[in-house]
Amino acid sequence: MPSPKTLLSFYTSLVKSLLAVIFARLYKPQEIPPKDLRGQTAIVTGANSGIGLSIAVALAKQGTAVCLACRNPDRGAAAVEYVTSSCSGNSQGKVTCRILDVGDLTSVRSFCEKWDGEIDMLVHNAGIAEPASGGPIISKEGLDIMYTTNFLGSFLMTHLLKARLSPTARVVFTSSSGAYSGASHFLQESSKSSLEHRAPGLLARTTTRIKDFLGITESSAPTYALTKAQQVLFASLLQSHFSASPFPRRTAHAFTPGFTSTPIFGKLVVSWQTWFSNPLFAALKMTEKWIAVDTDEGAKTGVWLATWGNELGIEGKGGGFWEWMEWRTSFVELMGETRKEREWDTWERDAGAVWDR
Ligand SMILES: NC(=O)c1ccc[n+]([C@@H]2O[C@H](COP(=O)([O-])OP(=O)(O)OC[C@H]3O[C@@H](n4cnc5c(N)ncnc54)[C@H](OP(=O)(O)O)[C@@H]3O)[C@@H](O)[C@H]2O)c1
Repeated sequence: MPSPKTLLSFYTSLVKSLLAVIFARLYKPQEIPPKDLRGQTAIVTGANSGIGLSIAVALAKQGTAVCLACRNPDRGAAAVEYVTSSCSGNSQGKVTCRILDVGDLTSVRSFCEKWDGEIDMLVHNAGIAEPASGGPIISKEGLDIMYTTNFLGSFLMTHLLKARLSPTARVVFTSSSGAYSGASHFLQESSKSSLEHRAPGLLARTTTRIKDFLGITESSAPTYALTKAQQVLFASLLQSHFSASPFPRRTAHAFTPGFTSTPIFGKLVVSWQTWFSNPLFAALKMTEKWIAVDTDEGAKTGVWLATWGNELGIEGKGGGFWEWMEWRTSFVELMGETRKEREWDTWERDAGAVWDR
């Protein structure tokens, strides 16, 4: 049972996160102390647009050799050109692109098998808010495509690249404030499975019929939130794994970029039905222009964690969930150890990857 102090801290963090989604444009811009990253190597997934692209530019500007891990060769090549030209004059870091589809575990395996250098920063940023219109909803492995893309691909990737991580490597996950709502999955020990097997009542059946009639589809928001919560939990467990390993200075962190203006909102298909099925995403898409912070600002906490993550680890703040360069108390601090381990077991089974625990 969490202490009242932890609960208070959790709810305070939740409120701060909600306020940041709406008011972050009014906050003082984040300032990351500069660091000489020459000689260091980073992999950034989903680096051809949005937050990933901003992180890649910021790291390359400080001298990091950045590998943009992208699924589309043309978009990847255009991003290499963009990052290189953005750094002209002050970039010592070489910028390359390698093909990686994190929603396809075969592609993840192939990427990792071919990787042969040491990695100082591994930024798991690629993600989708809903399955692409007309695209698959199930991965080649028969798993939910959002689960595979937003979480499982990076779980497997971290496992396969672990031997390549430098002794002071920083692993960073671009999560979301939505992780707070996804947390309910982890905080309800048993109710979910027992409900799933119960036949729907009259009200639920009628609601489903009305929704079907009106063409209102299932919302992607709960799955999105769950995958973002999985990232936060994994960052915490990965930190414990590193701390108990021969490389205790490695760190893992998750962060929320809040509400950041990126192409992700352009990819959301919003019709009048969306206002019923997924009102939050519809509202975010409609208000992005007025409320969301710019991409570089949204990316800053991720850049800071990739750059200064070890220093936070030394302060005992590894494995954290961060926003606007501040620690947030996440649901992980409310969870029991057995429940956490059970989740990791599921990920291992789904990814076909057994960690040395
Ligand atoms: N923007 C926000 O307000 C916000 C808030 C909370 C969290 N986030 C998180 O931030 C991360 C970056 O999103 P963004 O806002 O910057 O959106 P974005 O511009 O759409 O960037 C997403 C990136 O992920 C890539 N990607 C998607 N599926 C992939 C796959 N299967 N394999 C490899 N790459 C893939 C995309 O590549 P393609 O160009 O090929 O599609 C793109 O480069 C996501 O994880 C998102 O959940 C964003």
